[in-house]
Amino acid sequence: MILPIYLYGHPILQKVAKDISPDYPNLSELLANMFETMANAEGVGLAAPQIGVSNRVVVIDLTSLAKDHPECTDFKRVFINGHILETSDESCIIEEGCLSVPDIHEKISRPKWVRLQYLDENLQPHEDVFDGYPARCIQHEHDHLEGIMFTEHASGMRKQMFRAKLNRIMAGRVNCNYKVKRQ
Ligand code: NI
Repeated sequence: MILPIYLYGHPILQKVAKDISPDYPNLSELLANMFETMANAEGVGLAAPQIGVSNRVVVIDLTSLAKDHPECTDFKRVFINGHILETSDESCIIEEGCLSVPDIHEKISRPKWVRLQYLDENLQPHEDVFDGYPARCIQHEHDHLEGIMFTEHASGMRKQMFRAKLNRIMAGRVNCNYKVKRQ
């Protein structure tokens, strides 16, 4: 089922999301809905708070980027109860966008790699290092679980430049070809 995507300014996007327990109801349905909602909006990553669920569940599908980023080949993954344990000192700059922040794209500096502790869709525990584009996407999505939007990483000057746009998004004055929900 395609669900509305919560827009910038909604309080649930500012909350720290909670881990799920092993008896979490309808997990497979939640994951299916998240993948469907993300694909419908042509996104590559979606965190559960973006559909109004304040739990640590993230879906990522980078397979459409494999041509330009070989490390994205077959990268269609689920991250449950994810926690970033370690990040590289080395940073890199990549342009980001977000389904909750339509029409804003910004070059953002973040650590190049991360070590992530998480459960897969079968609730099996893993601890892996991710580099390249997957590392970038994982950091963006796990920021959502901490209540942080990618625009907060932009420089003060850039923030000034898109403040009016953010105000329009908060007021729901956006043109999206997917269903949205505002505060
Ligand atoms: Ni996002």
